[in-house]
Amino acid sequence: MLNDINEPLMRLWESIIESPETIASAYQRLWKSQLGREREYYDAVRAKFNKTRKPHYLLYLLARCVKASVRYNSEGKFNQSPDNRRRGMSPDTMRWHILTASRLLNGKATVTVGDYRKTLEAVQPEDVVYMDPPYQGVCMNRDPRYINLLEFEEFTASLRRLNERQISFILSYDGKTGDKSFGKPMPKELDLVHIEIDAGRSSQATLLGRNHNTYESIYLSPALVERIGKVSKRHLTIAPKQLSLLAQNGA
Ligand SMILES: C[S@@+](CC[C@H](N)C(=O)[O-])C[C@H]1O[C@@H](n2cnc3c(N)ncnc32)[C@H](O)[C@@H]1O
Repeated sequence: MLNDINEPLMRLWESIIESPETIASAYQRLWKSQLGREREYYDAVRAKFNKTRKPHYLLYLLARCVKASVRYNSEGKFNQSPDNRRRGMSPDTMRWHILTASRLLNGKATVTVGDYRKTLEAVQPEDVVYMDPPYQGVCMNRDPRYINLLEFEEFTASLRRLNERQISFILSYDGKTGDKSFGKPMPKELDLVHIEIDAGRSSQATLLGRNHNTYESIYLSPALVERIGKVSKRHLTIAPKQLSLLAQNGA
């Protein structure tokens, strides 16, 4: 089941990295065709995606669905509803994100589908691994968004093995809104550098009339911190425009 769900997502990443113009144009076509009939169009694209698993349909659904949050039913069919207040990211902005991601990752990233434990076995000290597992807060509430729940203990054991092998990794995990934290922090013995990134106002907090920002937790492995020398705030609050400059310079 995990692979059935992740396969289309990884095919989407493959398209973004290797054929960015094609996927950006396909998104633009879908986005423009929806105008004036957004609700029915979403349902039609969702039905097409559930039949064909094509990446451009998934990209459109991700841009239009509620809280950009992927949900599948027990038969592996995408069943998230549309956010009827929004049309989804404009094609120009989407193209910019796609081209920037491609410039950063093309020729440097490997796309594979499978259980993370298997994928991590192949990783080498010269690689940089970015992990974005299902959030603990989500798992502990047994949110159906993620069918395969990641066991915290097993996951931290994998991180320990990565440390033993001197692997550079970045992990986004849990976070907090106002003073409400999601999930427990990573164990101290992993010696990770923990940084909180201000991700702006959470939509949930805004709806409830609260003035809280959401903070995403990022953890850096000791091998990565040693490799980049030291961690400054600049590394972590880099603006999208700077990112595109880095990409153009091949950083
Ligand atoms: C927060 S999402 C990551 C989204 C990703 N950053 C992206 O931009 O596409 C967490 C992902 O972990 C996947 N996942 C859950 N359990 C996994 C496992 N045991 N091995 C590999 N991936 C897993 C889920 O299917 C989901 O796609």
